Amino acid sequence: MTDDKHAAEFAGTRWVPDQYLHFSGHRLRPALELLARVPLDSPRFIVDLGCGAGNVTRILAQRWRTAAVLGVDNSGDMLSQARAEPGDIAWQQADVADWRPEQPPDLIYSNAALHWTDRHEELFPRLAGFLRQGGCLAVQMPLSWDQPSHRLMREILQDCDGGGRTLGTAALRNALARKWVQRAEVYYELLSPGARSLDIWATEYLQVMEGEDPVLQWVQATGLRPILNSLAEDEREIFLAVYRRRLREAYPPRPDGRTLFPLARLFIVAVL
Ligand SMILES: C[S@@+](CC[C@H](N)C(=O)[O-])C[C@H]1O[C@@H](n2cnc3c(N)ncnc32)[C@H](O)[C@@H]1O
Repeated sequence: MTDDKHAAEFAGTRWVPDQYLHFSGHRLRPALELLARVPLDSPRFIVDLGCGAGNVTRILAQRWRTAAVLGVDNSGDMLSQARAEPGDIAWQQADVADWRPEQPPDLIYSNAALHWTDRHEELFPRLAGFLRQGGCLAVQMPLSWDQPSHRLMREILQDCDGGGRTLGTAALRNALARKWVQRAEVYYELLSPGARSLDIWATEYLQVMEGEDPVLQWVQATGLRPILNSLAEDEREIFLAVYRRRLREAYPPRPDGRTLFPLARLFIVAVL
């Protein structure tokens, strides 16, 4: 990892809830597949870290109706959307990097959020250490860093015109260059010393996308946010024109108009 600060703060991520929920079917499936592997019968206190607009948090609350449920996120916009729906879930604005629970949770669940935070070698043991004995840490993170969608972002920031012209600040390029998710073995090394059981696996989804430039639309709600929020308007236009063109080459629409967008995800379920 190349930088001390977590990338989202560094590059000004700023989330847009409606944009993120656009592909909610594709985004929800790994959340449910992670949830299905949590081996707890009746947890009393559940935390959803990086809860976003709270749609998965509400599923956690429905699955374990007697549990106290807390959703934690550092985006005020995401939490406003989460709070808009009435319910018993508590919401907290905090950064995962320095968040600590007031009482030991039975379950810390995190879907598609922890890759935004650096220093996993400290973060994962720290989160596991917060749990009540027998508690569970359940995490899903996308393995998109070396996929064309994300590799092209870095390449275009480094050289947008084939002549070496960079875009954005060195800080932005460094934040994007950091490897967001480590190899599965790294998480095994981090969590196995204290774990009663540890289940780590990856799944690649062949996502069938509809519409024009669907991969661009997908990343605009997630991985592209630091770039869109950090570039000046003229640079943003240059970036988007080159990126759109190169995405179409990397993910060409099929004759039926659909686009195939493979995306692998890493799942970790540790019982402590
Ligand atoms: C891709 S969304 C996932 C939201 C939700 N977990 C879901 O599955 O729908 C990532 C979320 O992580 C949050 N996030 C990113 N970095 C964070 C950090 N350092 N601390 C707290 N939340 C963070 C973002 O604000 C965003 O809501």
